[in-house]
Amino acid sequence: MRSGAPTPCPSTAAATVGGMSYSSNGADAGSTSESAFTSAPNTAPIPSPAAVHAPWLRDAVFYEVYPQSFNDTNADGIGDLPGVTAKLDYIASLGATAIWLNPCFDSPFQDAGYDVRDYKKVAPRYGTNQDLVDLFAAAHERGMHVLLDLVAGHTSDEHPWFRASSQPERNEFSDRYIWTTSWVEGAPGLPFIGGVAPRNGTYILNFFACQPALNYGFARQEKPWMQSPDSPAARATRDAMVDVMLYWLELGADGFRCDMADSLVKYDDDRRTHTIAAWRDMIGRVRERFPQAAFVSEWGRPTLSLTAGFDMDFYLDWRWDGNPNGYCMLARDTDSQIGGAPDASFFRATSGTGAARFVREYLPQYEESRGNGYFCFITCNHDCARLAPRLSPREEQIAFTMFLTMPGVPYIYYGDEIGMSYRELPTKEGGYTRTGTRTPMQWNGGANRGFSDAPAEKLYLPVDTSSDAPTVAAQEADPESQLNYVRALTALRHETPALQSDGLFTVLHASDDDRAFVYARTAADGSSVVVALNPGLEPAAVELESVPAGVGGQVLLSRGGSAALEGSRIVLPAQSATILR
Ligand code: NOJ
Ligand code: CA
Repeated sequence: MRSGAPTPCPSTAAATVGGMSYSSNGADAGSTSESAFTSAPNTAPIPSPAAVHAPWLRDAVFYEVYPQSFNDTNADGIGDLPGVTAKLDYIASLGATAIWLNPCFDSPFQDAGYDVRDYKKVAPRYGTNQDLVDLFAAAHERGMHVLLDLVAGHTSDEHPWFRASSQPERNEFSDRYIWTTSWVEGAPGLPFIGGVAPRNGTYILNFFACQPALNYGFARQEKPWMQSPDSPAARATRDAMVDVMLYWLELGADGFRCDMADSLVKYDDDRRTHTIAAWRDMIGRVRERFPQAAFVSEWGRPTLSLTAGFDMDFYLDWRWDGNPNGYCMLARDTDSQIGGAPDASFFRATSGTGAARFVREYLPQYEESRGNGYFCFITCNHDCARLAPRLSPREEQIAFTMFLTMPGVPYIYYGDEIGMSYRELPTKEGGYTRTGTRTPMQWNGGANRGFSDAPAEKLYLPVDTSSDAPTVAAQEADPESQLNYVRALTALRHETPALQSDGLFTVLHASDDDRAFVYARTAADGSSVVVALNPGLEPAAVELESVPAGVGGQVLLSRGGSAALEGSRIVLPAQSATILR
């Protein structure tokens, strides 16, 4: 599908190119295995237009809500927006100050809502626009913020823009998507579909077959039908996306998580020069009206994304051809979603992996990008396998200790706070192997684990009813539970400036030869805390490169026993995590 003859099938065709391709702008045409990860690092960042970020991000903790699986209030088996509103106090009790809501807009749901049919209408299965406005208001009453998911790179093939664009007669939307000028011509290096529209041409895809790419132009116009990023058509696409953002901000949204943010301008260079310019234009125009709007990119390259105006970028789970990035080295360095295969993840007790290889990948990106915004750790997201059951509860808690004490803004995926498991399930709405991460929230021991009053067979996905399935209710009652540990971690973060988004990060010990990982976080006033992790099965004793001023070894929080600091030597119990002052 990447090149060759047009594909004569409509949106049911398997048209993904390179699976979870996060660099679908054709920059790597002809080489599906080459990813942005292997491209040359950016050495001359463009200054960020977002030098000032919304102040609430300095101490933000996000909670990602997958709306279809969170809380069903009308017994139709699908989670809904009133269900999210009803659980805001619970979300706040986790120490979360903000929500990222996955797409909740009108959609045929061939990619779980990432195929938008109407950007300005809440999908009826989730409620009404008024329900979303009510959610914004209820969040704001609690001092919380809500980011919506902006799918800027593509729409559903059922979107009226695409329907109009498919017509042979020229109209306002003819160039909203990328069409070649003949039904037998494809787009070199880009996935395309032919044979399904009355228009004489084929059109470019951004992801699945149901997701035609919006036209933001081409960095290099190699064919007559390739328009420049400065063309009126590309400008009109940006205008349309700005209009969508302003619509929801006016109704009370606080910003956007931007899907496949690096995919906009096709044939862009390694530094995504034109895609960055497109975002700077759109974010810049939105910020003229809403200076406090917050933006997080699904990009995974903070040295680039944070120069495009984003406040935050995710450290994504990239493991191309078995080559893990730093995030995967920590928690996801395995071919298995469920466990059992060799697992080299740092947090796996038996992996033998030291922290140094993570540090080598992370630190340069952190240092180069930190003036521009936040490089953010996630516990998981709706696209990758949950940590459980691959990691034991203790391993997961050591991982959470790190994710919730690193610089940037942490994101907790719903259900991870109780250690919900990845489950092997048939695909649902284009989920494929992601489906097992998207099952209903487990609230209590009641019917459907409290998710829904619908009959079990009507649920969006089957709820985990195994006898040992964790629930919020059971973990509320257990002081040692993962839920209460997560609450303790976020509470400590909120009361400790050094642990918040801007606190400096300094490695005190990371090696390829042992399992100890010790780092300091330091606030603007010079106060520091030290985080000491040992996922290994043996105790560790290491000499620190330095000990920050004022740190004397007082234990603020620990799991699996407490590390002891004696001068510059620290002794860490096996499988432990400690935060010290
Ligand atoms: C990334 C989203 O996180 C994923 O769920 C979706 O399938 C693709 N982008 C396409 O929008
Ligand atoms: Ca419902």
